[in-house]
Amino acid sequence: MMFYITQIFTILLYLQNLQIVESAKSKKKSNCKRTAFSRHTTNYQAWREQMTVCALLQDYDPAVRPSGRTPYNDTKGAVIVTTSLDIRSISAVSEKNMEFVAQFRFRQEWFDDRLRFIEHQGLLSPDYRNFEFIHVARDQTLWIPDTFFQNERNGWYHMLDQENRFLKIRSDGKLIYDRRLTLHLACSMQLARYPMDHQMCDIQFASYAYTTRDIEYMWDFPPITMAKNANGALPNFAIADLKNGSCTSVTNTGTYSCLVVKIRLNRVFSFFLLQLYIPSSMLVGVAWVSYWIDWKSTAARVPLAIVTLLTMITTSHAINSNLPPVSYAKSIDIWVGACVVFIFFSLIEYAVVNYMGILDEHKQMRKAACNRSRLSNVIDTDHYMQSVEQAMASPTSIGAPFSPQEKKRLLRRKNKTSFMLKEEDDAEHIELGDIGGPPRAAGMVEEGWTFHDATDLVYIGQRKRVELVRWCSVLSSRGRAERIDIIARIIFPIAFIMFNFAYWSLYLDEDVP
Ligand SMILES: *[C@@H]1O[C@H](CO)[C@@H](O)[C@H](O)[C@H]1NC(C)=O
Ligand SMILES: *[C@@H]1O[C@H](CO)[C@@H](O)[C@H](O)[C@H]1NC(C)=O
Repeated sequence: MMFYITQIFTILLYLQNLQIVESAKSKKKSNCKRTAFSRHTTNYQAWREQMTVCALLQDYDPAVRPSGRTPYNDTKGAVIVTTSLDIRSISAVSEKNMEFVAQFRFRQEWFDDRLRFIEHQGLLSPDYRNFEFIHVARDQTLWIPDTFFQNERNGWYHMLDQENRFLKIRSDGKLIYDRRLTLHLACSMQLARYPMDHQMCDIQFASYAYTTRDIEYMWDFPPITMAKNANGALPNFAIADLKNGSCTSVTNTGTYSCLVVKIRLNRVFSFFLLQLYIPSSMLVGVAWVSYWIDWKSTAARVPLAIVTLLTMITTSHAINSNLPPVSYAKSIDIWVGACVVFIFFSLIEYAVVNYMGILDEHKQMRKAACNRSRLSNVIDTDHYMQSVEQAMASPTSIGAPFSPQEKKRLLRRKNKTSFMLKEEDDAEHIELGDIGGPPRAAGMVEEGWTFHDATDLVYIGQRKRVELVRWCSVLSSRGRAERIDIIARIIFPIAFIMFNFAYWSLYLDEDVP
């Protein structure tokens, strides 16, 4: 009895299990619903297509990769995925983030002989051959290569208005899978020649999990197409070239098939010519204007140089704020640096000119003072001696007679003065001979001076004269400041032209790395 009960129970369990399996199977197939054809409401062709898909997917497992057999090659092997790209736009090339944005249609084609429906196990009636492609609905899952973009940083599918993709089955079992993508792709950029540079950016894709034993990528023909206005989205670059290539890599888990699109982007230089090179050259020129301005007008010359210097520094900051902080010197840095140096030296030149000018001015003032002192050197040495002796001998004029102490003092002074005058007379003879100063005026002594006043004045005058003669002995040259300015007017433009010549011949030559 017990035995029968358990037997029935096991049978019941078995039946239940069967039901579960059955329901699971039906769930799996739920994306393909067999529908009845209604002559009045249904398009026969469309209905037939979907019924064909249903028939094809009946025993289809999307987890199993296709055998690799094709109508042209009956040997099993890796699935050959033929790819092509239709680039819709390339935009937002960012040097700072070293990336760019590409929007393209990515098409992959491969054979899956499970989905061949020309002579499919006698399931299909001959009229299926009337159509070449069947569209697979979005919810019907098929095996799809697990392609990923190796240098992708971020990206998305386009879902408006419906998901921008299609999957078609050709009657010979070829699947065509097309999807629109927008990707932010990393691109390592060499900025040493910026902004005369060109950049090579890649779109790399490979299978994520399958090695070359399972998936191999091949380029379709034509491999890459580009929309006519793809360049329009890229104001600072021109797409110069698009090349297909391969980047199959060997890792410790196997060899992975990989394909690459090499995009050559040429930077549009005219922008930099108008926005940087011409204005900065003009700024350097403005700094030179200072050489034509009188060196005495500090208020005109210093601000000119400083404003241009600050403008140049600000420009360089503005440029570098859009660039990554690379360790090497970019060609734009060399240009901006040279402009800053030129303007800086204009400022330094003014400092030198001003200093020289002031020196010259002082010298001229001293020289004028020398001349004046010579002209107004009314008391001649001989006359002075005479007057001292006279005064000592006989107290004349208004002055009171000298006391013995005063006489002694005066004598001391006289001796001292005569000694000093003798010395400086020798020096002055040479000086005057060289410079050709004015003739020494003698006998211009005014009447009515007291001897007291006379001796003191004479003494102070002689002391000053000694000093002045020493100052005057420094060789004076007139207009050094002006001369430096004149030289700078020639030297600076020539140096700038030479720098330009070297700079442009170096950077406009494409072959120089
Ligand atoms: C067929 O495929 C196999 C494996 O992929 C390959 O070795 C062979 O060369 C192919 N034959 C032809 C005729 O393409
Ligand atoms: C680029 O694509 C063409 C056409 O499919 C192909 O013949 C060629 O081998 C490809 N070039 C590279 C480097 O893969």
